[in-house]
Formats: sequence, structure tokens, C-alpha cells
Amino acid sequence: AQLNLFARASGKLYFGTATDNPELSDRPYVAQLKNTLDFAQITPSNSMKWFATEPSRGVFNFTGGDEIVRLAKKNKQLVRGHTCAWHSQLADWVEAGNFDKKTLESVLDNHCRTLVKHFKGEICKSSPKFDAWDVVNEPFNEDGTFRETVFYNTIGLSYISTALRAARAADPKAKLYINDYNLEGLSPKSDGMANLVKKLKAERVPIDGIGVQGHLIVGQVPTTIKENFQRFADLGVEVAITELDIRMPLPPTRELLEQQKKDYQTVIAACKAVKKCIGVTIWDWTDKYSWVPGVFEGEGAALPWDENLTKKPAYYGIVDGWKSK
Ligand code: G3I
Repeated sequence: AQLNLFARASGKLYFGTATDNPELSDRPYVAQLKNTLDFAQITPSNSMKWFATEPSRGVFNFTGGDEIVRLAKKNKQLVRGHTCAWHSQLADWVEAGNFDKKTLESVLDNHCRTLVKHFKGEICKSSPKFDAWDVVNEPFNEDGTFRETVFYNTIGLSYISTALRAARAADPKAKLYINDYNLEGLSPKSDGMANLVKKLKAERVPIDGIGVQGHLIVGQVPTTIKENFQRFADLGVEVAITELDIRMPLPPTRELLEQQKKDYQTVIAACKAVKKCIGVTIWDWTDKYSWVPGVFEGEGAALPWDENLTKKPAYYGIVDGWKSK
């Protein structure tokens, strides 16, 4: 069983995983990360973010991102860019909110332009068919209204088109995404995303895809994923699952691990069923490096491999999802 092989056999472009630079000194970890039978795509989970890439105004640092791109290229894996415009893991000089509208617009434009341009032709070079950026990350509140970030409060909603247009100018071939969590099923938040994309399309703002993060909870996977993905696709954009993990209360029991297997299968089967769902990325592949326990106390075990890098039932749930009719 191999996750990427089954994804490709299902007509998808890739199955992939996030990784982070500190993990690259873990040899057994890297050996599996490089295994293209499972992973044909990599997303850097931190090193292309604003705090890392423009820590002070006009001073860019691409060291971490370059390292991951180098590794991916060597292994003929695609890379997904993550992310230009996000309110979290920003740099202090932006977060401080000391800029007027015009200045912040130009700061945002310059950041996205420089970032996307640096990785142009590097991101996903191994496939001319695929080149993608999470240009805007997490713009929504749960009720579908816009999150009041430094960008939204200072610039207004047009910060989204500023970021998208800058990315398009920097790399005309890149697929430009807006990415968020709790967008899996039909909900006020996914309605908000559908409406935003409709509006951007009407205004001829470049937008190619909706990134559905997929940070889910065992036993609570929405039942309307397929319908929701299809209505996204019907807007004329592609869909990618960009950060999949399915967490549980710790410690894992046999029942929880079996439910998790079913839940992974459900999510993957929904992507398989929607033609425009182009691929799936898990948010790292082993529980050893999952972000979950650090943020949700008492929860974790969210990934298909455990902390000892051993495959869990969830791995075979993904395989079953790809094999589903
Ligand atoms: O860089 C410092 C390091 O110097 C320090 O020693 C260490 C001690 O805790 O912290 C390091 O910063 C950490 C940073 O990742 C870089 O490794 C932060 O504590 C940690 O909170 C941060 O977490 C990241 C998180 O985004 C922040 O929101 C996760 O690794 C990353 O996986 C996660 O990814 C996000 C996506 O970008 C967007 N969607 C949600 C997803 C999960 O939160």
C-alpha cells in the first residue's frame, strides 16, 4: 500500500505532507519523507511564513524555504508555497499596526511579490502542471464574516485582491489559493468562502483554488464534504486538502484508532469523488512532529504514523479511501 500511488491511480496530482526544517536532521524521519511512493508533494509548515521570510521591513530571508525546496527538488517532489498573507506568525513590525492603509498595502504587495518571485519556477518545478501558493490564509471567522486582522482592519477586504494580484504578477503560472480551516463541510464559514470566490471571480481578481485545511476531530468528520467540495468546484476553481490531520483525546485506544481509520477514509473518498479536488496534503506524517498536542492539551495522535514512525490503521484508511468507488 502506498498513499501517493493510490492518489495518482485515482486521477489526483499528488498525495503529500508538510514538514519543518528542524525535522530534517532526523534521519529515519527524512528517509520516509523522501519516499515518493507515499509523498509526491511537500509543504513547508513554517519556513515560508512572514516571521521567517521578512523579519524586518525589506529584509528577506529564504534560507529555511530554500532548504526544503532543495530537498524536494532532489527527490522530484512538488512544493506548495505557504503563505503570504496571514495574521498569525507575522513579523512584529507588521503586527504592531503602525502603518496607514496605503503603506500597509504596499508592504503586503511587496511581501507577496518578493516571496512568490523568489520561489518562482522552484516551487513544483518537477511538474509544469502544478505550481501552487496559499496566498491568503485563514481570512474567515466561524460565522463566515471576515476576521479582523491587521490587514482587514487597516486595508479593508481589498487586502485579499492586493495579495492575489501581487502573487499573480510575480509568478503568472502559479495556482493561487485562499486557504482556511473548518471549510470541509457545508457551514456558514464555507458559505463565506464560496461567496468570496464568487465575488473575486466577478471582479476578475486572480483566484484558482480553495484550500481546505482539514484539521478534524475523530468521530466528528462532517457528512457534507463531497457536496461542499463540488459547490466549490462549480465556482470554477480547484480544491485541495492542504493540512489534513484527525486528532483524538489521548491516549489512543483501539476504538479511537479504528474510528480514525474510518474518518481518514471518509475524507479521502470525498476528495476522490470530486474531480476538481486535485490532491491531499497531511500536516506532517508522524505524531512525533504533529502541532496538535502543543495547542490542544490532552489531544493528539492525529496522523497516519505514530511517534515511533510506525503505520497506524489511519494509513490503511487513506488507502481504502483512494480505493473507494
Ligand atoms: O521558532 C520558535 C523556537 O525558536 C522556539 O524555541 C520554539 C519553542 O516553542 O518555538 C518556535 O516557534 C514555534 C513555531 O511553530 C516554529 O516552529 C511556535 O512555538 C509554534 O507555536 C509554531 O507552531 C506552528 C503553528 O502553525 C503556529 O500557528 C506549527 O509548527 C505549524 O504546523 C502550524 O501550522 C498551521 C498552518 O500554518 C495554518 N493552519 C493551521 C496550522 C496548525 O496550527
